[in-house]
Amino acid sequence: MRTTLSVIKADIGGVAGHLMPSPQLVDCVQTHVRRHGGGLLTDAYVGATGDDIAILGTHPRGVGDARVHQLAWDAFVAGTALAKEQGLYGAGQDLLKDAFSGNVKGLGPAVAELEFEERPNEPFLLFMADKTDPGAYNLPLYLTFADPMHNAGLLLSPKMSHGFRFVILDVAHTDGDRVIELNAPEDLYDIAALLRDNQRFVVEAIYSRTDGEQAAAVSTTRLHNIAGKYTGKDDPVLLVRTQGGFPATGEVVAPYAIGHYVAGFMRGSHVGPLMPVKKNGTTSYFDGPPVVSCLGFCVHAGKLTDPADAFDHPFWDYVREHVAQKAIEIRRQGFSGAAMLGKDELEYTGIVEKLRALDARFVVRDERLATAAGS
Ligand code: 13P
Ligand code: 13P
Ligand code: MG
Ligand code: MG
Repeated sequence: MRTTLSVIKADIGGVAGHLMPSPQLVDCVQTHVRRHGGGLLTDAYVGATGDDIAILGTHPRGVGDARVHQLAWDAFVAGTALAKEQGLYGAGQDLLKDAFSGNVKGLGPAVAELEFEERPNEPFLLFMADKTDPGAYNLPLYLTFADPMHNAGLLLSPKMSHGFRFVILDVAHTDGDRVIELNAPEDLYDIAALLRDNQRFVVEAIYSRTDGEQAAAVSTTRLHNIAGKYTGKDDPVLLVRTQGGFPATGEVVAPYAIGHYVAGFMRGSHVGPLMPVKKNGTTSYFDGPPVVSCLGFCVHAGKLTDPADAFDHPFWDYVREHVAQKAIEIRRQGFSGAAMLGKDELEYTGIVEKLRALDARFVVRDERLATAAGS
């Protein structure tokens, strides 16, 4: 049987700033999906990470289905009304357009979808990240799908021996989707050369080269490109199928032990380490640190199991402590150098205006005149 997984997420308001949605807000979105999803979705799960709410739906309708997208949009619109009633901060933050027009892509919410013929057992992972952007998944996906030092399964499993095809999107190109397809392992250096630049090149999808099946789908929304100004970070979702011809669940989650530095954190304008958090994990310190949750499911005939909380394990407590130290270390240097994002990525215009005003006050010193005056 063919099943589609659609995860659509949005920030529609937070308690006390950008820390978390209210429990009533999550309930409201969930109730809307339950009430109006009958006959459309086979199953659904609604959860939060940081101040973002994600709707995961299963259905047989394929990727980009207008009715599935409309259901999610309407659920977020209903939630926004409650967020306003509750006085939540940034109510409706990610709903950048007034009306739904067939697909949530380009309207603000992030979306990642996978369609496949169900295997007899079909495990997959849902990642939700907050206070960062889609490039945050570049390194973990590279390490899992292309690097045998991190994923020895690439050597051990004959089903993965042909490697994987990476579809990489140039997110700076706003006039249509500019993509490139590269194969691991033979294009390894080219893949790394692109994925190095998390703000420009983003993994959109990964396919098995053994059977052509899609292994991963990342949301690639750039809110800035839609709104033309800062409205919040592009907090991304990711779906990964695991086991069999795909990496094992443990091989997919292992790279998150690094707590690598990503863009995001306070005001979407800083660099911070990505902390793996438990289900419905929130943010706090400096509106962060950037966080990622991971829920594991099995799906059969479109029905979901309860989620397994992949980062709820004593091992990850140790990692969280290490990542907290990394966060404190980089915050010690405040605005200086690598702690803040480059000018093009800064999410606020204040500093750009300041630099423009200062620019007019610069003078070019004329060394010859100074020397002549002095002689
Ligand atoms: P305001 O300037 O509207 O308070 O927004 C700042 C913000 O939300 C950064 O966290
Ligand atoms: P979000 O993108 O999660 O709303 O965060 C915005 C922000 O400014 C945090 O400081
Ligand atoms: Mg927010
Ligand atoms: Mg957010």
